[in-house]
Formats: sequence, C-alpha cells, structure tokens
Amino acid sequence: MTSTHESPAPNPHATAEQVEAAMKDSKLAQVLYHDWEAESYDDKWSISYDQRCVDYARGRFDAAVPDEVQRELPYDRALELGCGTGFFLLNLIQAGVARRGSVTDLSPGMVKVATRNGQGLGLDIDGRVADAEGIPYEDNTFDLVVGHAVLHHIPDVELSLREVVRVLKPGGRFIFAGEPTTVGNRYARELSTLTWRIATNVTKLPGLREWRRPQTELDESSRAAALEAVVDLHTFDPADLERMARNAGAVEIRTASEEFTAAMLGWPVRTFEAAVPPGKLGWGWAKFAFGSWTSLSWVDANVWRRVVPKGWFYNVMVTGVKPESPAEAAGS
Ligand SMILES: C[S@@+](CC[C@H](N)C(=O)[O-])C[C@H]1O[C@@H](n2cnc3c(N)ncnc32)[C@H](O)[C@@H]1O
Repeated sequence: MTSTHESPAPNPHATAEQVEAAMKDSKLAQVLYHDWEAESYDDKWSISYDQRCVDYARGRFDAAVPDEVQRELPYDRALELGCGTGFFLLNLIQAGVARRGSVTDLSPGMVKVATRNGQGLGLDIDGRVADAEGIPYEDNTFDLVVGHAVLHHIPDVELSLREVVRVLKPGGRFIFAGEPTTVGNRYARELSTLTWRIATNVTKLPGLREWRRPQTELDESSRAAALEAVVDLHTFDPADLERMARNAGAVEIRTASEEFTAAMLGWPVRTFEAAVPPGKLGWGWAKFAFGSWTSLSWVDANVWRRVVPKGWFYNVMVTGVKPESPAEAAGS
C-alpha cells in the first residue's frame, strides 16, 4: 500500500526572481534546484530500481553496519530524509533491509517522484515533504532512519541528527551514506571543472561540432552549477560526523569511507557525459564507464584502503544507534 501525505505542489519552473532570491536562501535553493531536477534525476544519475541499484544500496548498508546487527533484518518501519527520487530507501526495502517506509524530502517534486517510484514497485511506503532539521513525526516512531547524499545539504547537521535520534525508537539505527569528504570533494571538483573546460572547448573545433550541446543547454547547465554551489553546504572529515552524531545523543557510532580512484574516474566521466549531447555516447560507453568504476572500486576497497587515510576517500558514511536507556546514553 502506498499513500501520500498532503504536500505542497512541485515548482519545476522557477522564475528569475525566485532564482535570485535563492542565491541568498539555501533552503529555497534546495527546493527550486531539486524540484527542477526531480523528473530527470533518475536518468541523470543512472538511478534504477533493479538488481544493480538494489545491490549498490545494500552494499552501502553492509559497508556501514556491523555484521552482527544484520541478524535483526528487516527493520519494520524506516524513514528516509532527503529521499530524492527514493533511490536509497526503495532499494533498501527491495534488498530486505526494511519492511515499510516513509520517503521525505524538502522538495515536493522529489517526494512526488519517490512516491510514484515506490508505487510502481508495489512497496509499502508513504511520502511527505519534510525538513530534516524539524522532522514532522512523533518521538520514538522509526526502527531505521536512512539518508544518501543529504547531510551535506543541511545547514545544521547536528540539529538534524538530534531530530533523527528523537524520531528513532530506543535501539533504532540511522545510516547516512554518500557524503563528500573534504579532501575527496577537492579533487573531484578540480577534475570535473577541468573535464568540463576541455570537453566544451574541444567540441568547438570543426569536425567535432556534432559532439557539442546547443549553447542554450550549456548555459542552462552553468546556471544549474551556480545554484548547485548554493545547495552544497558542507564537506566532512569522518571525525566531524562522529562528533556530531555523539553530540546528537547517538551511541555505537561508526564511520566508513569508500571510492578513491573510482571517484577520480567517476566524476570526470559524469561531467563528460553531461557536456556532450544526451545519447551520443551509447551503450558501449556506459558499459566501459560502469565496468571501470566497478574495477577501481574493488581496487580502492582491497588495496588503497590499507594505505590511504579514511578522509582521502571521496564518500563517507556514518551510522549510530539511539540509546536503549539513559544509562546507556551516559556510558557512551
Ligand atoms: C543530492 S540529493 C540526494 C537524493 C537521494 N537521496 C539520492 O541519493 O539520490 C539531496 C536531496 O536532499 C534534499 N534536501 C536538501 N535539504 C534538505 C533538508 N533540509 N531537508 C530534507 N531534504 C533536504 C534535496 O531536496 C534533495 O532531494
């Protein structure tokens, strides 16, 4: 069964005045940017709800959560913050991590798409517009709270984690994955900027023009990038996330990180795909990109992990638990 809590309508066509106002208001920017992206988001990020992404979501859960905890699966009631199109929770439900869930996001457009995706999969979910800094659910409601690539968008991350601990039942777990590290974000951005410059300049050459996207589309991407700079608020060192989770009242906190050389390949690849006309690169390219990313991820996990500090990997994830009792909280 799938239901939708009454939510504000999406606004996929922001006016110039709204975009101007959003430059000084990060939450308005989140809503405009993500409402605008919602309908094309799954395509843009190659998000799917088949085995590939089910395995990816489950892999993030397994990487963060200790093995002994996995005997408790599935969690009964789960919440996703900043769900986007539902990538993380819908795939975790399909992977057997949770039985039913609530997908929430600040962007009405994203909640609409996530709810529709859940409906299409026949999952037991509901959707609701919600700010992660003030989660509109009662204390002690959920067994599991998840998020993917959301914490770095939230102005007060510690406040949000306090809200997470509040809505979790005692003993309930949270897991946030896909957050950029401070070091990783630096190399990813530099490589992406370089790739964009090269791709958009080389395709001006005669003979390569068919690889160039129309100028109006490139201009729109640049405007999106300007808004993106307003919505991306933080990068993290793993120790920052651990400290914030502890201050929020969680126990059994762990961080893990992944993607080192895989991110050094993945970001330029994604940027190149965005710089050339959609569909131009074809199936062979997609296979090469995914295959190389998978191989490098294996090398990162099995070789680089032994020598490179945690904070140099691109993605960091954090998990923790709401204490069962005040005594457990005090002993943490
Ligand atoms: C980078 S997207 C990630 C979406 C999805 N979790 C995924 O991994 O595909 C970040 C999402 O967080 C949402 N968001 C940003 N600030 C938020 C806030 N304060 N509360 C709830 N959601 C927020 C955005 O609207 C957006 O959908």
